[in-house]
Amino acid sequence: MLDILEILQQQAISELENANSRPELDSWRIKYLGRKGLLTQKLRRISELPVEQRPQAGAAANRLKALLEERHAARHEALIKDELRKKLEETRIDVTLPGRPVRLGRLHPTTQILRHTSSIFASMGFEVVEGPEVETDYYNFEALNIPRGHPARDMWDTLWVDSANEKGEYPMLMRTHTSPMQIRFMERRQPPIRVIMPGKVYRYEAVDATHESMFYQIEGLAVDRGITMADLKGTLYEFARRLFGQDRRVRFRCDYFPFVEPGVEMAIDCFICKGEGCRVCKGEGWIEILGAGMVHPDVLRRVNYDPEIYTGFAFGLGLERIPMLKYGIDDIRLFYSNDLRFLEQF
Ligand code: DAH
Repeated sequence: MLDILEILQQQAISELENANSRPELDSWRIKYLGRKGLLTQKLRRISELPVEQRPQAGAAANRLKALLEERHAARHEALIKDELRKKLEETRIDVTLPGRPVRLGRLHPTTQILRHTSSIFASMGFEVVEGPEVETDYYNFEALNIPRGHPARDMWDTLWVDSANEKGEYPMLMRTHTSPMQIRFMERRQPPIRVIMPGKVYRYEAVDATHESMFYQIEGLAVDRGITMADLKGTLYEFARRLFGQDRRVRFRCDYFPFVEPGVEMAIDCFICKGEGCRVCKGEGWIEILGAGMVHPDVLRRVNYDPEIYTGFAFGLGLERIPMLKYGIDDIRLFYSNDLRFLEQF
C-alpha cells in the first residue's frame, strides 16, 4: 500500500506541474482528489487491509491527501498571479505619452453681457423675469397702444406663427420686442414694481451686418407712486456709467413709442473719441443705446392700475449692441453663426 501511495504521489505531482490553465487544474483535482478520484479510491481500500497495517497506511494516505491539497492550492494561486501579470502586460499604459489638453469651454458673449447687465440692475433693486417668445397679437401690440392698422406697426417687421383666422386676423406671432412682458408682469403684480425682462426677440428682416432675425433685448419697468422722469434719467444714467465708464455723459432726446409718453431715446457720448467724432459713433460724437419713456396712462389702465395714483418708466435696449460697441464688432451675424474663432475671443 505504501508503495502504491508513493507512486501515486509522484504521478500526481508531476501532472500538477504540467497543468498550465485553470481548467487543467480543475481536471487534475477531480482526477486525484474528487469523490471518485484515485486517492479517494485508495483511501477506501484501506479497510480491506489486515488490521495491523491499517494505521500506518491510513496515516500515509492522509498525509498524501494534505500534501496534494496544499500543492493544488499553491499551483492555483500561481496560475492566478500569472494570468493577472499577463493581463497587465497586455493592457499596459504608456505613461510617457503626453496628455490630451482639456479644452475649457466659455460663456457665449451674449450670456456674458446678459449676466453683466442683469447684475447692474439687480444691484439697483430690479428683479429679473423671463417670458414667452411666442406671443399673441394682444400682448405684443394691442395692449401696448399699437392697434391693428396703426402705422407704428411698421416699426416691427413681424414673423406670424398662425395663418389668418376667419376675421382676417393673425393672433400668434414671434415677439418683435420684449415690451409685451411689461403687460404680462403688471397683470400678475401690484406696484411697487422694479423689474428687468431679458430675452430673445424676432424680426422678419433681410439679414445683414446690422440686422439679425433673432437677437436679444432687455426690457425694464418701474411702477410706483410718484415715479418721475428724473427717476428714469437717474437710473439709466447710472446704468450707462457702470457699463461704459464712470466719465460717460448721457443725452436724452424726444422719440416716439406708442406705449410711452413722453418717449425718449438715450445716447452716451462716444467712449472711443470722447465726443470728437470717429468711426464707432459715425462722426456724431454720440451713440444711441436705448429707447425709454414714461409708461402711457392707457397702458396702465389696461392692467387696471389707476394712472392718477401710479406712474412708471420703461426702457428697452438691444443686448448685442453693447459688446458690438465695446469691442468694435461690426457684424451682428457673428454672434449666432457659431464660429469659434470669433466666440473664443470673449
Ligand atoms: N420695444 C422697443 C423696440 O423694440 C424699445 C422700447 C422703447 C422699449 C421704449 C421701451 C420703451 O420699454 O419705453 O423698439
